[in-house]
Amino acid sequence: MPLDTESYALPVARLISDMRGQVALWRSAGEKIALVPTMGALHDGHLSLIDVAKKNGATRTIVSIFVNPTQFGPGEDFEAYPRTEKTDAEKLVGRADLIFAPNAGEMYPDGYGTIVSVSGVTNTLEGEARPAHFDGVATIVAKLLLAALPDYAVFGEKDYQQLLTIKQMTHDLLIPVEILGGPILREVDGLAMSSRNIYLTTAEREAAGQLNHILRTTANDIENGTNIMTATSAAEHRLLKLGFAQVDYLTVRDTVTLATMETLDRPARILVAAKIGQPRLLDNMPVEFKN
Ligand code: PAJ
Repeated sequence: MPLDTESYALPVARLISDMRGQVALWRSAGEKIALVPTMGALHDGHLSLIDVAKKNGATRTIVSIFVNPTQFGPGEDFEAYPRTEKTDAEKLVGRADLIFAPNAGEMYPDGYGTIVSVSGVTNTLEGEARPAHFDGVATIVAKLLLAALPDYAVFGEKDYQQLLTIKQMTHDLLIPVEILGGPILREVDGLAMSSRNIYLTTAEREAAGQLNHILRTTANDIENGTNIMTATSAAEHRLLKLGFAQVDYLTVRDTVTLATMETLDRPARILVAAKIGQPRLLDNMPVEFKN
C-alpha cells in the first residue's frame, strides 16, 4: 500500500512496511530520523518533543499516534481516551514529516505471545499504582522502535518514570537508538499539559493549577534544608485541603534509580500523582543537590 498522502496535508503510514519504506529512502539520503511516540490528542507538550528532536540533530521526524490497549488497566479510560486524528494531523503540518497511525492488529498481530517487562525502575510509583502498565508501555515502545528503527526517540519528562523505563529497556535489549528527554510543558498557571486535563471541571481545574506551585515550594524547602519527610507530608496535607481526593504519592526519589531518600544527599526528583475529580494528575521536577 502506498503512503496515504490524500487524507491530510502530511503523509500517513498505516502499515509498518510503508513506514519502513520511507525510512529506508530517508536513510539512504543521509537523513537523521527521530520518532516521537504518542497516543494522540496532541497538545503543545507533545509538539515540543519534535523541537527537542530537531535540536539534537534530527532532520526527519515521525510522530506515531496509537492508543495502546496493553498499557491501560481494567476500568481505566482506554475506550474514552480522546481520539482526534484529524486535528492532530493539522497540528503536525510543517512540524513533522510523517504520521505513523497503525491499527491494533498491525501492532499486535493475532496470537501474539511476547511482552517486554522491565524490572527495577518500574517496581515503584506508577508501577505500584497501575500493575502491568509499564509492561504495556515497554512492549509498544519496543515494537515502535523496531518498526521505525529511528536514530532518536523522544519522550517527555512529564512521565518521568516512563522515560527511565524506556532508557533501561533500549539499553537491555540492545536497540540502537538514542533516547532523548524533553522538559515538561505547562499551562500559564503551571499545570503540566496533559490530554486528560479536559476531564477537569472548572473548580477542579483551578485546584489542579496549585499542584505545581506546591511541588515547587516543597522542592525549594527541601533544597533549603527542610527535612524531606516533613516537607512532603505538609505538601500532601495541603493538596487534600485544596480538594484533591487522594494523593497516591508525593515523594522525593533518586534521579536515576527512583530509590527513596531520607536526606538530600544526591541529585533527586520530587514526583507526585494525585487524583482530583476523575483524572489522576502527574507532575515532577528536579530537587537540586548542592555539595
Ligand atoms: P502520551 O501520553 O500521548 O504522551 C506522548 C509523549 O508526550 C510522552 O513522551 C509524554 O511524556 C509526552 N508529554 C505528555 N505531556 C507532556 C508535557 N506537558 N510536556 C512534555 N511532554 C509531554 O506517554 C504516552 O503517550 C505513551 O505511554 C507512549 C509512550 C506513546 C506509549 O504508548
